[in-house]
Parts: sequence; structure tokens; C-alpha cells
Amino acid sequence: MKLPLVVANWKMHGTQAEAATLARQVLNGGRGIRDVEVVLAPPFTALSTVSAITIDSAIQLAAQNVHWETEGAFTGEISPKMARELGCQYVIIGHSERRRLFQESDQAVAQKMVAALRSDLRPIVCVGETLRERKRGKTNAVIARQLRAALKGVGKSAIEKVAVAYEPVWAIGTGRNATPEQIAAAHRWVRDLLQRLRGKKEAERCRILYGGSVRPDNAAELVKVPEVNGALVGGASLKAEAFLSIVRAFHSESVAES
Ligand code: 13P
Repeated sequence: MKLPLVVANWKMHGTQAEAATLARQVLNGGRGIRDVEVVLAPPFTALSTVSAITIDSAIQLAAQNVHWETEGAFTGEISPKMARELGCQYVIIGHSERRRLFQESDQAVAQKMVAALRSDLRPIVCVGETLRERKRGKTNAVIARQLRAALKGVGKSAIEKVAVAYEPVWAIGTGRNATPEQIAAAHRWVRDLLQRLRGKKEAERCRILYGGSVRPDNAAELVKVPEVNGALVGGASLKAEAFLSIVRAFHSESVAES
């Protein structure tokens, strides 16, 4: 069975002191939850602080982005090796905010995927359509384009290390989350694509997360949607109790399943 994966994307929120408080609250409140993999993605500046707090726990760390080179003249960037050194096991790649606000291309996403895996960082690659693309019936085509590009350099054997986050752009930070039907259709499509691109058995091992206005009050509904193997949480992950209640929703679901 795939362990559900619930990721807190803190985005550009939190000083080191604030991040430390939040990490401690998640750590203490989440004790005893063993059947959900919990990952925190603080800003780069708080990674080592949070790492020192979570190091002896089951909580894992993610970087919110990495560059594809190991080192060099790339002002403002950090490499997978640096993220690894700070205690990251995961990295979020191709978040729509990076694609939209920082012009990150499909090609850059592909390069980052390869670089992350080379440094033993597990990529959480984000895909998802804008509202305009959905209204034009392009949702599946956009997801397919983004996923194909992202997996270009990822071989069959590495695919199990990859998690795909379906994050419809119109649902991020808007309070308007996708319906269970829309999520089920997109996740089915992602699973089909993974199977076609890298083989059925291999694709089964990938976790597909949903992201976009996930909150404690819609988490219970989300965990019941087929092919939802976890969540990528933004705003609600900045409050320990809200985040933990989403984690617990996945916890009860995996207990119910077993
Ligand atoms: P919100 O949960 O704030 O909508 O953000 C989702 C997201 O972008 C997570 O990566």
C-alpha cells in the first residue's frame, strides 16, 4: 500500500523563529500518526532551523524549488546538493507560482527533475490548468503536456520516487477547491498517463496529490476520492491545528482501508 503523503507548502511565509514554532507544533501535535508521511516545505532560510527540530522524527523536509546545476554562477539559486545538505528528502518542482510568476518553462522543470533525482531528492512535480484552459476544455491536454515534459529524463526505475501534485491554478489560494468529480477525473488521467509513459506496475507506485484550497473542512471529502494519495497544502498549512486535521483525515482513511 502507498502511504498517503501530506505536504505543507509554507511558500514565502515565516521567519526562522515563526517556522520553528510551527514545526514544533506540528511535531508535537502529530505524534502517534504513523501511517501518513508528513512533509514540511519551509522557505529556504528556515530549512536548517526546521531540520534541527524534525531530525529525529518521521517528519520529512522539502525544498520549494531547486536549480538544475550543482554549482555555478546562478545568483539567487540553490542546488539539489545544497537542499540535500540542509536535510531535504523532497523538493517541489514546477509549482504553478513558479511557472506563472517566474516564467519557469516545461524544459526547466524537466531539467530540475533529473537534477533532483541525481541528488537523491524525491520530486513532487506540480501540474494543473488555469481557469481559462479549463473553460476551453484543455485541462487534460495541459496536464499531459506538463507531465510528459517533466518526465522526459525520468526512467522507469526512478518513477516510483516521483509524486505528482495536481493543482488546478484557479483553486490555489482562492478558497475555491475543485469538486470531487473534477479531482477524480484529473487524477485518473494522471494515473493513465503515468501508466502509458512508464508502465503500469511502475506507475502504480507513484503518489498523486491534490492541491488547491485544501482545508480541514474539505479534507474528509478529499480523502475518499479515488486516486487521491495525499495533499499539497498551502494556506491551511500555516496553522498547525488546521494542517494536522488534514493529516488526520488521511490517517483515518488509511486505517479504515487496512
Ligand atoms: P492553498 O492551499 O493556499 O490553496 O495553496 C495550494 C498550493 O499552492 C500548495 O502548493
